[in-house]
Amino acid sequence: MRLPLPAVPSTGCSDMSTASITVHSLTKSYGDLTALDSFDLAVEQGSIFGLLGPNGAGKTTLIRILTTLMRQSGGDASIEGLDTRHAGRAIRSMIGVVSQENSLDRYLTARENLELHARLHGMERRVYAPRIDELLALMGLSGRQKDFPDTFSGGMQRRLVIARALVHQPVVLFLDEPTTGLDPQSRRAVWEYIRSLAGSMTIFLTTHYLEEAEQLCDRIAIMDHGRLIAIGSTQELKDRLSGATVYEIEFTGEGADRYAGILGAMPCVLDIKRVDNKITVTLECWECLSEIVTALGGAPIRRISLQERTLEDVFISLTGEKVRE
Ligand SMILES: Nc1ncnc2c1ncn2[C@@H]1O[C@H](COP(=O)(O)OP(=O)(O)OP(=O)(O)O)[C@@H](O)[C@H]1O
Ligand SMILES: [Mg+2]
Repeated sequence: MRLPLPAVPSTGCSDMSTASITVHSLTKSYGDLTALDSFDLAVEQGSIFGLLGPNGAGKTTLIRILTTLMRQSGGDASIEGLDTRHAGRAIRSMIGVVSQENSLDRYLTARENLELHARLHGMERRVYAPRIDELLALMGLSGRQKDFPDTFSGGMQRRLVIARALVHQPVVLFLDEPTTGLDPQSRRAVWEYIRSLAGSMTIFLTTHYLEEAEQLCDRIAIMDHGRLIAIGSTQELKDRLSGATVYEIEFTGEGADRYAGILGAMPCVLDIKRVDNKITVTLECWECLSEIVTALGGAPIRRISLQERTLEDVFISLTGEKVRE
């Protein structure tokens, strides 16, 4: 089922003077493939911003451009007012990056990985040593700091990469699927830490865990095929679907089948599903409920309940159910 699409989104930052990240008409092509297509975005300073999209939507491509690892084919992007094409060095000094694939140095211990990063950022030992102690403790890695990353589980490596991105206290932190591969405990610990950073830096993250986006992000953008298709707070995104309302009707006995036929023929019913003695109807709008109640007059009903929209409903309705190649 596809629900009505929202209007074309605005960029999502009301006051551009407080934008930490701005993207205007950004385009990136790999040969014939357009991975980013006239992408516009503004991310407010100090906010936690989530970028969602199916596999291949263009999320990592956008992060690579914003972190100056790759050049765009067209359009502009800036971090804290600095153009990604001309101020690569300055931008790299003020950002932290957790890339999608782990990029630890396997010939250095966990602690040496963090120390190397600190030194590359020009930090002095007296500054970075306590900071590294703190980050290792926070990520639950103090006891393994002398071990090599190859001896770590995937989740531990991920936590080390996150610690490394934070050593030099970045102004903007990019996290490309930060919690992929983490167990629920580690994921929650990382969420808590990200939440504790809110306000002190701008955080831009991508994730396929919609609960993660919902729990953490002030604003969320959904992209597909290189284009921005929706932007807003979780509630705003859910509200865009609120034109359509879903109710579950549970029958006490027989009758679900007969009433599924009756309701299914009504013009205000966009979609209908029956499982055993339950019918789920998607109505054009909540005002249609009274028509439904009238049609159900005398039916043996145990309960009618409103099904709350989830961020996943929004995501699927905007990007479709088809699995990406
Ligand atoms: N270096 C490259 N050369 C050619 N095509 C590429 C390259 N990097 C990415 N692409 C293509 O660009 C598109 C966007 O890829 P990208 O990695 O940005 O997606 P993504 O949204 O991060 O996906 P995922 O959720 O799987 O990480 C895909 O079709 C991908 O195959
Ligand atoms: Mg990616």
